[in-house]
Amino acid sequence: MTDTPIIDFVRRYCESEAVRAHMPGHKGAAFLGPEALDITEIAGADELYGAEGIIKASERNAAALFGAGKTLYSCEGSSLCIRAMLYLALLEAKRAGRRISSETGRFCVLAGRNAHKTLMTAAALLDLDIDWLPAEKSSLLSCKTDIRALDELLAAKSEAEKPIAVYITSPDYLGNIEDVRSVAAVCHWHGVPLLVDNAHGAYLKFLERSLHPIDLGADMCCDSAHKTLPCLTGAAYLHIHRAASAVFSEQAETALALFASTSPSYLIMQSLDNANALLSGGYAERITEYAALIRETAERLAGNGWRLIGDEPLKLTFMPKEQGYTGTGFADELRKRGIEPEFADPDFCVLMLSSENGKADLQAIESAVLSLEKRLPVTEKPPALPAPDRAVSIREAVLAPQERIGIEDAAGRILGFGHIACPPAVPIVTAGERISQAAIECFRYYGVRTVGVLREPRA
Ligand SMILES: Cc1ncc(COP(=O)(O)O)c(C=O)c1O
Repeated sequence: MTDTPIIDFVRRYCESEAVRAHMPGHKGAAFLGPEALDITEIAGADELYGAEGIIKASERNAAALFGAGKTLYSCEGSSLCIRAMLYLALLEAKRAGRRISSETGRFCVLAGRNAHKTLMTAAALLDLDIDWLPAEKSSLLSCKTDIRALDELLAAKSEAEKPIAVYITSPDYLGNIEDVRSVAAVCHWHGVPLLVDNAHGAYLKFLERSLHPIDLGADMCCDSAHKTLPCLTGAAYLHIHRAASAVFSEQAETALALFASTSPSYLIMQSLDNANALLSGGYAERITEYAALIRETAERLAGNGWRLIGDEPLKLTFMPKEQGYTGTGFADELRKRGIEPEFADPDFCVLMLSSENGKADLQAIESAVLSLEKRLPVTEKPPALPAPDRAVSIREAVLAPQERIGIEDAAGRILGFGHIACPPAVPIVTAGERISQAAIECFRYYGVRTVGVLREPRA
């Protein structure tokens, strides 16, 4: 089993009963419970973004488990890693001689339409443009990259004009997984790095056949350890592929430090350290077994007429309109039966599970769903996604004076900060785009009532 240098250090420190003449202010007293283990970067505790001791040793353990060239910890979720990945891609693009677009004066990322809003905030901070990837199928929450169209698009650009990176989200919130291997092959053929938002897929490494993006050729990816592994909220990894540009691994700490707090949580780091021991000690067998139980449950529910979608082994994603429930209505029914879903919108209800749920939870879910009476189908369909109509850059919009207005008054106005997102934070419109009537229909459908827009100049 992998060792746990961070946990061991903190435990020894607690046992030493040293006078805590350092942050944090609770001094180890148990206000909530875990304070004794909550220390700061004291002597011997290493430094998260200049790691040379226990943190470095623990990160190396993680890199070995995930088969990455380098793995760094984040105590601020995948959100921090996404900003760092974009910054690194920008550095590499400049090194490789990419030029800003002569039309827009900015570098560009080519991203799947279902990107989490952190991509937009990263673009605002780094002054990047985002172009949407060509997709075979695209909806707000899921898209499947059109590999041939991507190839043609990249082939049509000169070396200097190529995007700084291709960025995809896989798995997505609904549990769909992209063909990362094929996307990576096309990107690398054209000399463009592939970044994967694998926030929902840390565990994919430990399936019988790994589906982890690093194994499938991604240059970098972020995994929210807290979403699917037994880790505290905020725990995440930035993984860098062995064969990726040296700039990525050389500058990765700097990149994370640029956006991160200078007070990283040692509770979260211990949780990541502990995960190394768990992951190397029988975890793969546990999730393989549990994934099989989830699959069997899904098959029985499907056999009973419930529609489930997605190919991610640890999610149950229901599309219950045909059985007479909206996603949110279905979620309410589950809540009444003691089950709290991860996410629901008018069309979907997502249950996110892990081996920690155990058999009893799966049985409770199955009986709850089977106890629901089927009704007449809900026929309302989601509106088409609005076509993007960019008025100003993402950064300009985010930094401009704003006002909040009702969606009825929003047609023709330019969206400001606070990208309008449906529940799992996928933007319907991004900052700097003009709001169309189609966008307003979408806002209405997803329950958005007000939007922040750029103030108009006084007449
Ligand atoms: C697809 C996706 N990417 C990124 C994030 C951000 O991850 P974190 O909450 O770990 O910062 C989320 C959060 O829900 C997400 O769903």
